[in-house]
Amino acid sequence: MAIRKIARMGHPVLRVRAEDVADPQAPEIRRLIHDMLETMLDADGLGIAAPQVYEPRRVVMFFVPDDTEASIEHDGEMPERELVILINPVLAPLTADTEEGWEGCLSVPGLRGIVSRPSVVRYAGLAPDGSAIDCEAHGMHARVVQHECDHLDGILYPQRMEDMSMLTFESEWKHFDLIADEDNDE
Ligand code: NI
Repeated sequence: MAIRKIARMGHPVLRVRAEDVADPQAPEIRRLIHDMLETMLDADGLGIAAPQVYEPRRVVMFFVPDDTEASIEHDGEMPERELVILINPVLAPLTADTEEGWEGCLSVPGLRGIVSRPSVVRYAGLAPDGSAIDCEAHGMHARVVQHECDHLDGILYPQRMEDMSMLTFESEWKHFDLIADEDNDE
C-alpha cells in the first residue's frame, strides 16, 4: 500500500472519461483500491475516485455519511462509518427533486461550493470481490456518490455550480460559519 499524490484541478486526468474495469479482482485493481483508501484516509477525505490518483479507471470509494445512519441502533460508541467501494458504477436519479449542499474536493483544495443535485439516486456496480451492489441513496449519501461518479466522467463540482458567487475559500467559509458540521473533502 502506498499514499499516492492527488491530482489537482487543471490536470487532464481529471477531465477525461475513465475506463471500465475488466476484472475487479485483478492484482493492479486490488493495489489501486488499497492505495486509494490509504490516500483518502491520509488526506482526511470522505471519498475519492481513481482519476484523483492519476488512474483513469472506473473505481470510486466513499464513507456513507452519518446523516443516513440515523436508523442504526447502537449502544455507547458510534458505529464505524460504512465504506462503499464501487467498481464500474452506474447511477440514476430517482426524483426530479434537488437539494443544495456544500461540497469540497481533494482535487480542489481549500475551496467549498454549493451544488444542487438530485436528492435521491439509485446506484449499482461491483464490489472488490466481484459481487453486485445495488443501492438507493438519500441526502448526503446521494450527494457523495454523485460527486464521486462525476469524477469518472471528468466532472469536478465547480462545473455543477449554478451560482459561482458561492465558490468560497475554506477559511472564509469557516470564518462566516456558513456551515458547521461538514468538513470532509470528496
Ligand atoms: Ni472530488
